Amino acid sequence: MKIGIVVYSQTEHTYSVAQKLQERLQEKGRDVEIERVVPKGEVNPGSKDKFENLPDVEGYDALVFGSPVHAFSLASAMRTYLEQVPSLQGKKVALFVTKGVPFNWTGGNQAINKMKNICQSKGGTVFGTGIVVWNKKQDEKIEELTRRFSAIF
Ligand SMILES: Cc1cc2nc3c(=O)[nH]c(=O)nc-3n(C[C@H](O)[C@H](O)[C@H](O)COP(=O)(O)O)c2cc1C
Repeated sequence: MKIGIVVYSQTEHTYSVAQKLQERLQEKGRDVEIERVVPKGEVNPGSKDKFENLPDVEGYDALVFGSPVHAFSLASAMRTYLEQVPSLQGKKVALFVTKGVPFNWTGGNQAINKMKNICQSKGGTVFGTGIVVWNKKQDEKIEELTRRFSAIF
């Protein structure tokens, strides 16, 4: 089983979670690659912006998508990216977001729900989700998330 971890990350929080998850899955003998969504310039809500790097999901049996929360919702680069993915039919999917504000109403659930809806609309089956708040306790949360996700794949 080939696993792709596809992340959008501006300030490397989300990317660092992806790296820890990759390490953990590799310890289990899994074949895991991280690919980055890289927008070209600003990605505006609702626009069809161009990307410098647009990971192809085709070659993966399972996918983890990771993104920061922006403006109380999913970062628009990840939303635009997911919307253009042709199909996730038959693929196992897990989703996570990182965020800065610890309160429930500050976009984590909204971002996860948005990712979930898009992935399900493309035929993917979501097996796990997680939210990592970037505060003093993020390491514990990353540990919990990577443990949980590594049990899925
Ligand atoms: C433009 C912008 C908007 C943000 N909006 C939110 C928000 O609505 N809620 C929140 O909890 N954190 C918010 N944050 C904090 C980021 O989600 C958090 O720092 C995240 O871990 C960054 O991930 P990255 O380093 O992978 O880019 C925002 C950050 C930026 C730059």
